[in-house]
Parts: sequence; C-alpha cells; structure tokens
Amino acid sequence: MYQSFSKRQLLAMTWWNRPKLKEREGIICDGAIRSGKTLSMVTGFFLWSMTCFDGCCFGLCGRTIGALRRNIIGNLPAWLGDVVQIRENRSENKLVVTDRAGRCNTYYLFGGQDESAYKVIQGITLAGVLLDEVALMPRSFVEQACARCSVAGSKLWFNCNPEGPEHWLYKEWIQKARQKNLLHLHFTMADNPGLDPAIRARYEAMYTGVFYRRYILGQWCMAEGLVYEFEPQRHITKDIPQNGRYYISVDYGTRNPFSAGLWCVSDGRAVRIREFYHSGRDSGKMLTDEEYYRELERLAGSLPVEFVVVDPSAASFIATIRAHRRFSVRKARNEVLSGIRLVGSLLREGYLQFAPCCKDAIREFSLYRWEEDGQIDRVQKENDHAMDDIRYFCATVLGRKRRNNGGRSNEELSGE
Ligand SMILES: Nc1ncnc2c1ncn2[C@@H]1O[C@H](COP(=O)(O)OP(=O)(O)OP(=O)(O)O)[C@@H](O)[C@H]1O
Ligand SMILES: [Mg+2]
Repeated sequence: MYQSFSKRQLLAMTWWNRPKLKEREGIICDGAIRSGKTLSMVTGFFLWSMTCFDGCCFGLCGRTIGALRRNIIGNLPAWLGDVVQIRENRSENKLVVTDRAGRCNTYYLFGGQDESAYKVIQGITLAGVLLDEVALMPRSFVEQACARCSVAGSKLWFNCNPEGPEHWLYKEWIQKARQKNLLHLHFTMADNPGLDPAIRARYEAMYTGVFYRRYILGQWCMAEGLVYEFEPQRHITKDIPQNGRYYISVDYGTRNPFSAGLWCVSDGRAVRIREFYHSGRDSGKMLTDEEYYRELERLAGSLPVEFVVVDPSAASFIATIRAHRRFSVRKARNEVLSGIRLVGSLLREGYLQFAPCCKDAIREFSLYRWEEDGQIDRVQKENDHAMDDIRYFCATVLGRKRRNNGGRSNEELSGE
C-alpha cells in the first residue's frame, strides 16, 4: 500500500467505517483528472467489501474492460497486495479475492460501454458496484448496475471527471447526492500527494477553455463561446520552415466549402504553410472531384507529401486521389471532441502555427463556436471547414505521438 494519502483520499477509503457516514448508501467522487480518485476509491471499495461481506458478488465497472484492466486491475497488487490475495479469471472476466481471515468474494468486471455488458449485468445479484469514470457510461447501464445491488448493506461507489452541467449524472446524482443519501467528495489535484509538481504543470498546460475548467479545475461547466483560443501574434508566423515532413489535410464539400491545408512538420512545430479553400455556394461555381484534385496538386507543388488526410466520408474524392497515384491517402480520425481537445492543446503549446496566407483558417478560428443549447457538447455546424481539416491533420498525423506520450490520452477522456 502507499505510504501517504491526502485527507480526502482517506475519507474516500474509509467513510463506510465512520460513525457519521456509515449509513450512507454510497459515495460519488468527482473532480480534476489525476487527483487520486480511482486509487482511493478502489482501495476503499475492496477494504469495505472484504471487511463487511464473505461469499458475495460485486461489480467492478470501467468504461471498457480494457480501460478497467489498464487503470485498475493492473494496479491492484500495488494498491492491495499486502492485505488480500487477488486471482484474475480472464476468461470469465472476474476476480476472486481472499483475505487472511479466509473471507472470499468475487468481483465481476464490466465495461459500461461494451455492448454485451448490459445483458450480462441484468441477471446478477450484487452486494455493491464500483463504477469508474461513470459519466462516460450510458445512463441505462448505470441504472441497471444499481438495480442489481439488492444484498442488504450494499453500497454504490462512483467516480468521474466533470462534463457539462446538463449531464444526467450531474443533475440526477451529484446535485441530488444528499437526497439519495450519498456522500459526495470533490477532488482537486491537490488531493493527490503522489502527483509530481512537474507532471501536474504538464497537465495544466495541456488543456484550454472548457477542458481546462473541467479536467484541471474540476468544474461541471458548459462548453461556450469560441472553441479555440487563437492568438494571431502567437499563432501566425512568417518564419516558414524550409524542409520537414509534408502533409495535406482535406475537408471535402461540394455545396459546402472544401478546405485543404498543406503542413510542414519540423523542429518541434507544425506549420500550415498554405491552403486552398473553395465555397461552391458563395462562388456560385461547383467544382468536380477532378477539379479539386488539380487544386490539391497545385497546393502540393513539387513538395514530397507523405500522405493526404481526408474526411473519411468523402469516398468519391478519396477514389479520385488514389486513381491519380501520386499521393497516398489516409482516412482521417474524425472523433470530434477528442480532436478538438487535441487541437486546443497543440495551439496552447504553440506547436501549431499558420502562415499569414492561410486566411480562411485564420478567419474560422475567430468564428468557430460551441452550440450552447443542450445536454451534450456540440460545435456549431458553420465556419467549421478549415477547422475540420486542421482537426483531421492533428488527430491523424500528430495524435499518435501524443498518445504515446504517457499520462491520459484524449481517447481515455472521451471514452472512445
Ligand atoms: N496517495 C498517493 N500516493 C502516490 N501516488 C498516488 C496517490 N494517489 C494517487 N496516486 C497516483 O496518481 C495517479 C492518479 O491517480 P488516480 O488514477 O487515482 O487519479 P484519478 O483522479 O482517478 O484520475 P483520472 O480522473 O485521470 O482518472 C495514479 O498514477 C496513482 O497511482
Ligand atoms: Mg480515475
């Protein structure tokens, strides 16, 4: 076990054994990323269940079984190896845990987003569930998991990072925690004594806008206003690299605008060195795929382009590019929110830069906004063409490097 825990972590681990709190039906921990929620809650969950039950079944749920294995199961020996013996039965997705007193309980593993999880959990009787990253699970799964907890003395253990203020988990569980007789603990990064200040600073530098407020400050806030914090004096550069690795990214449209950017990645930065932008509607002139292809050739000039990243739905244009045999093509990774988060981080770091001639990208940065109307994060579907091709480039070309950088990836935060 770890040597030192913060006060809040200790509370998350031991509330079930404290006279004033032990009657609570469960606990919800929310707040900043890396604030020590999962470690303290999982430890508490096992201590509670092994102290209070013998021969019972519990549910241990992550977003997916893979996420559960990565974030929790692999760490259990370090967190609990001194006090219990843990055996994993991988084919049955369960853990069998025994303690020195001979007590033995079974923990079924579920991925809240896995298709079959819902069916599996339907038939089971549990003495408690732990839902890690509960805000990323479907509401129906969470309700089903709770409904399975019919053993006397059963308790619910939830933790998550914040989403928008209209999220069902916030409205139905966090705001009603008292009513539902649940203990609500809000974590900040200061609650994790194991978080190295340099790592903390790195996380703080990674997020901007709504994501900073949610993941770093731990607030349930709305995505509002401009999507990106674009600073012309910082992000527009006349210093164009003379060599590097070249890529083109494309957002395809016929009536809607078509946007393509030529990128040069070198010396710790990615510069959009020129672009092509055409609005069929505004210009009154619709271009064919062949005409667009010629513009792509013109954009590339004689540069050795590694590949062209294209909007995955643009099947006809992808076929046209392939037929000409000059460029290789990759379909873009196009998950919107994790892509936006990545572009935001790269802008914040000053890694993404724009030549002054990229006027349409620069214009869209000042217009691209969140839709401020509902339960889920959405961007307005206008002024988003260069924004989309930039996102495709970042997610497809730069994202991989990012994902290998350690810490929490974008995918993990959005539950992809
Ligand atoms: N008391 C502690 N001592 C040492 N290391 C700790 C302590 N608490 C947490 N950690 C470590 O800090 C990291 C983050 O902790 P944890 O995963 O519990 O945070 P979290 O709040 O669940 O984060 P996220 O929201 O990103 O899932 C982990 O590597 C964990 O092992
Ligand atoms: Mg966690």
